[in-house]
Order: sequence, then structure tokens, then C-alpha cells
Amino acid sequence: MPDRQRHVCFNEQAHDAVSGAYEARHSEIFNPIEQDRLHESLREAIQAVRTTSDPRMALDYGCGSGNVTAHLLDLGLHTTSADVSRAFLDLISDRFGRTGRSRTLKVNGTDLAGVPDGAFDFVATYSVLHHVPDYLAMVRELCRVTKPGGVLYIDHEVNESYWDRPAEYVEFLQAARPRVGLRRCVRLALDVKGYKHIIRRLFNPRYKREGDIHVWPDDHIEWDKIERVLCDKGFEVVLRREYLLYKSTYDIRIYERYKEQCADERVIAARKRPIPGERT
Ligand SMILES: C[S@@+](CC[C@H](N)C(=O)[O-])C[C@H]1O[C@@H](n2cnc3c(N)ncnc32)[C@H](O)[C@@H]1O
Repeated sequence: MPDRQRHVCFNEQAHDAVSGAYEARHSEIFNPIEQDRLHESLREAIQAVRTTSDPRMALDYGCGSGNVTAHLLDLGLHTTSADVSRAFLDLISDRFGRTGRSRTLKVNGTDLAGVPDGAFDFVATYSVLHHVPDYLAMVRELCRVTKPGGVLYIDHEVNESYWDRPAEYVEFLQAARPRVGLRRCVRLALDVKGYKHIIRRLFNPRYKREGDIHVWPDDHIEWDKIERVLCDKGFEVVLRREYLLYKSTYDIRIYERYKEQCADERVIAARKRPIPGERT
């Protein structure tokens, strides 16, 4: 099996396996501070949509258990939640099916074959691109399925500071992270399943328990390349924001003190320029 396909299969299996426990394991996403920030950013980006469709159709690419989908529904859009993991899509149908505004789409992880050009007014992807082997090709696909006047929203991918570690960010991490205490050491030692993952990591340093592959040699998505794709595809940036991700293990007082001084994540939203003379 080609390398890219293997990565996609691994992601599919890893996320199928974790689907039931996903929200409990990801307190960096499912905490009130991050949820409020996400809601506000989505609201702001949706306001930049210039299409005239009613209702407005949104795609949540790499939807997981429905974090972004829930906000989009709350903000009045109709949603298509797309993922490689069937288990996640089943969860979405159970949770949101009754709204009558939510559908799911099983994707192959490499393109959006079968989805027509300009199918969506709003396309969102949150914490997904670092799982996708050719993530720039996927950004091109997300551009293709965005309607002229519509907005593509990319969130929760680390920015350059996360890897460059400027002094104030290191200072923040040292102060905000909990000390590794005896209880945590005991818990890790008893995590028998964890040993399997440590051994896999020894043989393959790219290995991550939930299928992340990252992009080597820099080990992160390259935002500058993403912006170049957006520009080539006729998009203009309408929102770009750096933020310090709040993890619920952080000391909240220290987080509050540093959140304006350093940042480790970025959100970008960009609008597709309408084609002159064409109805949007
Ligand atoms: C870190 S989770 C983020 C989930 C969700 N967006 C959220 O906000 O919680 C990554 C998601 O991307 C999906 N995924 C992984 N590789 C993918 C690919 N190549 N194409 C589409 N989705 C993928 C996973 O199944 C998982 O649902």
C-alpha cells in the first residue's frame, strides 16, 4: 500500500478506536475558554461570508465528534460533517441528526472526489491538516468546494512559536504546566496500553497514538505555504489571529497573565473572490 494511503488508514483506525473517549481525552479542546474562543472566531468568520444562499451550507472537514459542527449548527448553518472515521460519523448522526440540518460524509482522506465545485458557503477545518499526508492538496480541494464569496476557515494548527520556543513562551510553559507528581508517574507506569505506543515510537519517530503524522522535516504544517495556496486560488484573508491555547492542566492565573504576550496556535479565514458577473 502506498505510504499516503497507509497514513490515512492508520488515522481512520486510530480515530475509530478513540471515538468514544475522544472528548474526555481532549480537554485542551473541550474546555470553556477554548470553546468560547472557537465560537467567537467562527461567528466572526461567518460574518465575512458574501454569498446569497439561503440556507447557508457548511462543511466541517475532519469533524471528529462534532466540536465545530455543534458551533456551526448553533450559528444557524446547515452542516456536512466529513471524516475518514465511520465511528465519528455515526456519533454525529446520533447527536445532530434530529436537527434536520446535519448530514455526514465519509471521505477518502486525500481528496473530495464527488463533491461539486463551490458546494459550500463556509468550509471549516479544525486540528485536522497535520493528519493529512498531502495537506496542501487538501487545502486546494477545500478551496475548490468553497463557493465564490464563501469563506474557508482553518483553525487550531500550531504557529511557528510552538516550534521556535521564544523565551516568554518557554517561561509561560514552565510556570503554567503542572509539576510531574508521584500520582502522574504511577498512572503512567500502570498504563499498560501506553507501552505499546512507546515501543512503536521507538521504531517510528513519526508515530502518534491518534494518527497524527505531522509534516517533516519541520514537523508542522507550513502556514506560509497554505497562505500561498489561498492566494493562488483567489482567496483574500479576512481573519488571521494568533492565540495561546488554553489547556485545562494549566494554572489559569498564569495563563491569564501570559495570553497577550505569547501564542502557540493560529486561525486563518479567507474569502474566495467572487467571479465578476456571476451570482454567488
Ligand atoms: C484532532 S481530531 C479533530 C477533530 C475535530 N475537528 C475537533 O474539532 O475535535 C482529527 C480528525 O481528523 C480526522 N482525520 C484524520 N485524517 C484525516 C484525513 N486525511 N481526512 C479527513 N479527516 C481526517 C480524524 O478522524 C479526526 O476526526
